[in-house]
Amino acid sequence: MTADRVVEVHADADGVAEAASPRVAEAARRAVAARSRFAIALAGGSTPGPTYTRLAEESRRGDVPWETTEVFWGDERCVPADHPDSNARMARKALLDRVPVPDERIHPIRAWEPDPEVAADLYEREIRRVLAPVGERIPRLDLVLLGLGPDGHTASLFPGTAALEEEDRLVAVVRASEPGLRPPRVERITLTPAAINAARTIVFLVTGGEKAGAVAAVLAERGEDATWPARRIHPADGEVVWLLDEAAAAEIR
Ligand code: 6PG
Repeated sequence: MTADRVVEVHADADGVAEAASPRVAEAARRAVAARSRFAIALAGGSTPGPTYTRLAEESRRGDVPWETTEVFWGDERCVPADHPDSNARMARKALLDRVPVPDERIHPIRAWEPDPEVAADLYEREIRRVLAPVGERIPRLDLVLLGLGPDGHTASLFPGTAALEEEDRLVAVVRASEPGLRPPRVERITLTPAAINAARTIVFLVTGGEKAGAVAAVLAERGEDATWPARRIHPADGEVVWLLDEAAAAEIR
């Protein structure tokens, strides 16, 4: 474990969700105290589902200031907003339709745009409009939630993709034809490593034995970043927390 990285192992997916909820609340508390708003980027895939459900169930406790929360996503698949593969659709059903986030503070990636490059550009502009005073090179999200694939990808930063090597933009397009993409094999739009690494807090939510090898490779002291993309996630001035279940932690115990 390095100084800026915390690794917690919990019994199962519910334990990971139970540990994630207070981490979100703490990031929100710090953000609101400092900037009167909380900016979060939600993870896609299936793993975050229990965490989103728990956050929705706990919303009446007032731990998360949903009314002053700006909601973004780490990545999106280029499918219609109501498509079963849409990350935004999953988050709306599990969380956003159940908490009082004002519509104008929900900033989905316009992945339904015919041209993914236009969608990526619009999303980058929105991030800068909402988060950054004019001139700040890389705006800072308060919290980025991330998942991890068995190949070590996170968001849509897959091995061998150009997005993984992007150093200037905040948002990049991943073409369905690029090597290393996992299903659904559609165009994707993703935050770049630079955008993620500017975050104040990053929380990885990882469950399941099929992720154990990737967890071990990504957390290892040495390894190939290009082969295990999540190794690229190391914020210059932020905290990285890994919330694992026993199965996903099997190769680091
Ligand atoms: C996506 C996610 C992706 C996901 C991992 C893990 O759009 O699919 O951004 O990075 O977090 O693939 O997916 P599961 O949680 O479904 O295992």
